[in-house]
Amino acid sequence: MICLGIEGTAEKLGVGIVTDGGEILANAIKHMPLVTGIHPREAAQHHADNMGAVLEQALDGANLDLGAIDLIAFSQGPGLGPCLRVAAVSARTLSLVNDIPLIGVNHCIGHIEIGMLLTGARDPITLYVSGGNTQIIAFDSGRYRVFGETLDIAIGNCIDQFARSAGIGNPGGPVVEKLALDGKYIPLPYVVKGMDLSFSGIYTAAVNALAKHRVEDVCCGLQETAFAMITEVTERAIAHTEKREVMLAGGVAINKRLQEMIKTMAHEHGAEFFIPQKDVLGDNGAMIAWAGILRYKSGERQSLEDTAVRQRFRTDEVDVKWR
Ligand code: ATP
Ligand code: FE2
Repeated sequence: MICLGIEGTAEKLGVGIVTDGGEILANAIKHMPLVTGIHPREAAQHHADNMGAVLEQALDGANLDLGAIDLIAFSQGPGLGPCLRVAAVSARTLSLVNDIPLIGVNHCIGHIEIGMLLTGARDPITLYVSGGNTQIIAFDSGRYRVFGETLDIAIGNCIDQFARSAGIGNPGGPVVEKLALDGKYIPLPYVVKGMDLSFSGIYTAAVNALAKHRVEDVCCGLQETAFAMITEVTERAIAHTEKREVMLAGGVAINKRLQEMIKTMAHEHGAEFFIPQKDVLGDNGAMIAWAGILRYKSGERQSLEDTAVRQRFRTDEVDVKWR
């Protein structure tokens, strides 16, 4: 079985083609150039303008035509409504016109499943950190349960907003990481509430700190504080679940300092540390295609009416029948 997956939850448009043996045949991606934050309607327009080209790039890359595709999968949510709708309408059209079954998948579960496929992790605690999401997730009793999450903005959003306010670049993650290497730690608000996290206060405090400190030092303080918060919650999730694996997912997981902190903590608990290759860490179509294959092969089917987008689709709402 060959599945074509469409990802378009935010500013990236991706089309991936994956076999049911887990081979990625293509993983085309188009990033919307960003100067400010993401404007949902502009991002949706970007996806609509580029859908044809990205589809073609994926099919060409896999050396296939649509006739070879057995299943169309798409990100049903969570994400920005206008962007999700472009991906969903494109997926429905491809499905109807070519008479190919259609299946919607949860974006966050796509990150987890592609990570497990490519790293060999079998039952990890997943730390999913990106521009729009911050969740600590583990499988338990038929679902991917959220053990901790942000109560306000995502960690990537916090870093990106800080970088824009500081005028050092967009997206901020890579720039902040680089500057932090030359920085000295300064304390910033450390906000962990039970198993949940909050990043809006640290963002404001970091911006205010620029008046008194070098930007490098603020970057260092921001990373050390925010990453320590995430590491603490992940550590408690390991202690609670007694899982023996920790896996990273999402664009912020590219950060070497975060990788180092999570890896050190995991090893202290005798847990194995996994990180997928960079091109599948961030949003991509292959993760949607692979999650679609797993869902479809577990016997799940969706009628057209069931394919409405879900902006607040939670990871823990999905019955995971393929495990
Ligand atoms: P999602 O829809 O899952 O929320 P996204 O649209 O934010 O994802 P991703 O590619 O998963 O897309 O993540 C992008 C985020 O990753 C941005 O916030 C960016 O700043 C951050 N990022 C990228 N590289 C680094 C890095 N080296 N260090 C920290 N953050 C990084
Ligand atoms: Fe994502």
